[in-house]
Amino acid sequence: MVICTRCRLYHSMKLFNLIVNFCGIGMIIYSLWLLKRWKEGFIDLGSASALPKPWFIYTCLVVGIVVCLSMISGHMVFNCISPSTLTFYIVIVFSILLLQGGLIIVIFFNINWEAKISKYIDGKQEEFQNFLIVHLRVCRCIAIAILAGQVSAILLAVILWVMGPQPKDHCSRSEPPELRQSFLVTVAYNKDESPIKLNLGVGAYRTEEGKPLVLDVVRRAEQLLVNDQSRVKEYLPITGLADFNKLSAKLIFGSDSQAIQENRVTTVQCLSGTGSLRVGAEFLAKHYHQRTIYIPRPTWGNHPKVFTIAGLSVEYYRYYEPTTRGLDFQGLLEDLSSAPSGAIVLLHACAHNPTGVDPTLEQWEQIRQLMRSKGLLPFFDSAYQGFASGSLDADAQPVRMFVADGGECLAAQSYAKNMGLYGERVGALSIVCKTADVASRVESQLKLVIRPMYSNPPIHGPSIVATILKDRDMYNEWTIELKAMADRIISMRQQLFDALSARGTPGDWSHIIKQIGMFTFTGLNTEQVAFMTKEYHIYMTSDGRISMAGLSSKTVPHLADAIHAAVTQVK
Ligand SMILES: Cc1ncc(COP(=O)(O)O)c(C=O)c1O
Repeated sequence: MVICTRCRLYHSMKLFNLIVNFCGIGMIIYSLWLLKRWKEGFIDLGSASALPKPWFIYTCLVVGIVVCLSMISGHMVFNCISPSTLTFYIVIVFSILLLQGGLIIVIFFNINWEAKISKYIDGKQEEFQNFLIVHLRVCRCIAIAILAGQVSAILLAVILWVMGPQPKDHCSRSEPPELRQSFLVTVAYNKDESPIKLNLGVGAYRTEEGKPLVLDVVRRAEQLLVNDQSRVKEYLPITGLADFNKLSAKLIFGSDSQAIQENRVTTVQCLSGTGSLRVGAEFLAKHYHQRTIYIPRPTWGNHPKVFTIAGLSVEYYRYYEPTTRGLDFQGLLEDLSSAPSGAIVLLHACAHNPTGVDPTLEQWEQIRQLMRSKGLLPFFDSAYQGFASGSLDADAQPVRMFVADGGECLAAQSYAKNMGLYGERVGALSIVCKTADVASRVESQLKLVIRPMYSNPPIHGPSIVATILKDRDMYNEWTIELKAMADRIISMRQQLFDALSARGTPGDWSHIIKQIGMFTFTGLNTEQVAFMTKEYHIYMTSDGRISMAGLSSKTVPHLADAIHAAVTQVK
């Protein structure tokens, strides 16, 4: 992965701190050893009483101890890097540097130790005399080297301070678990030469033949766009294609939404679902009074990163209960009840990724009441509208319940899955406000967030979406194709459940048909997943999540055999 200059600096600074501090430990050990040799040497000479004070060794010892102490401040800074902790680090290390510098000048350069040593040691004891002089010079060099190291650490810290530090896991070298797993799944799958290999790790729809799908309606819309000679490729406004924004808001909030009619909704076109979440998060981090966002555990692997990098602090609420393979509704309510008033809460609008477990409408209603009573701000992530049930309206129901009560709410929409526009990066962020005036001011602030981020969004993807959404025929054609995708997934669930039942696979597998959307959380453990990959060439993330969209009638028996073998042979 590409590491930015700021992160390189941050890592160099960390490395410097570590090296300098190991040198500090070395100095302490070395000075104590030298002190022992000094005393023993003078005792051997029979002059213990007239022993001179070895201030140059003491200086080395003190510098070593101080350097080790500064390690603690350095460590604290790297754990929560911010302009104030960096300032603290610079001030501390600089003060230590001044003290050390003064001490070193006074002790090493103001005193003629060579002459002192010669005075105390008889010329006949040449060996001890030379030993001390050599080590005096070594001490002098080490002290100067440590000073140089600290000066460099301060310089790096100052540069980082001027550039403005990012949260510490910005550009983190360690890939997030979910991402790493998906990446590794595909890499391992591509290397496997078995003809029966099966990739259930990818989060994209596949046909019965295992091929990516471009919807017919999308092809038709693209053809219309290509044929329209009046179309140009000029920049879009910062907020994107106006038609697309209006139609997207209607799609998620409903064409009869009161909030839309009262102009309380502001919608901006963003880069798919991820970009919409990011713009929303940046906006909240800048303008909202509460900077804590509660996200479900587990959740889509990118959520914590998107929100942390935007400057929000991430907390979790309970969501999934492994024993029932269903919703931990009690845990969810308890955690949201104890969230601070005004906190932001991320909600998967439907088809929760990765669990496939959604609250029922009654449970949504309880969640809504609790959140409104505590003044919690709902931020919906709607990446699968239409994919869960096959109905665009049914899947938007939870969002509409929240909007209907007149309260505030955010919604990030993605057209990646439901229109198959994965690589076109089409999405929208809508913010529902209490008044039209607030909505228009929110839009101005959103422009200020977007402008330095990517200036304005791309034109092709939203044009496809707008063409489809505004034409009744095309819209109907889309809903039919969307329903066909959702139905194929639902049918895969049934087929897998039936195949496991037919094999008498131990355990309750009803969650496969209860869960919805693209993914199923099978409940298989890491060892069972590894067994299935090794013995059956079936690839999935190690948490046992499988993409139902990657299955077909032909591959269901193979998967059922593998699950049966894993469950019966691997505990
Ligand atoms: C829950 C959830 N949110 C958001 C996204 C964002 O997807 P995209 O940026 O491709 O629209 C995904 C994609 O897998 C997702 O699963």
